[in-house]
Amino acid sequence: MRRLISHWIVGFAIAIGCAGGAGASDLYLLPGDPENGQALHQARCTVCHETQFGGDGSSIYERSPRRVRSIEGLMKQVAFCNRQTRADLNDHEVEDIVAYLNEAFYRFTMD
Ligand code: HEC
Repeated sequence: MRRLISHWIVGFAIAIGCAGGAGASDLYLLPGDPENGQALHQARCTVCHETQFGGDGSSIYERSPRRVRSIEGLMKQVAFCNRQTRADLNDHEVEDIVAYLNEAFYRFTMD
């Protein structure tokens, strides 16, 4: 999977409060670590999506219409699923999963 921006650049850009230099179709700069998010998602989230939607479960993120329509919606949905399913992820882990899902599936951009 192609990484658009390495994690430390994202962290740095946020640390100095600067999202500048972002072009029209850049993905959101998110604080989470998508690689960690992918592992967490695999371990904690996919089984149920697989059972309900078949395959590797990712079709839930590519269906039409999708429930999630914005980056804010994605953050809320992941936090909601975390609570509902008692996955017991902390805020950082939720951020990591949001970063992973946006990079791999939703691809919301900043414009
Ligand atoms: C107990 C089963 C179950 C587990 C565990 C689960 N989900 Fe879900 N998830 C669902 C179902 C069912 C839906 C569809 C809800 C709907 O259509 O209203 C869904 C929908 C979603 C969506 C919205 C998809 C869209 O349409 O855009 C996201 C994002 C999501 N889940 C993320 C997660 C994450 C992250 C985790 C792990 C923390 C997780 N889910 C764990 C059952 C589950």
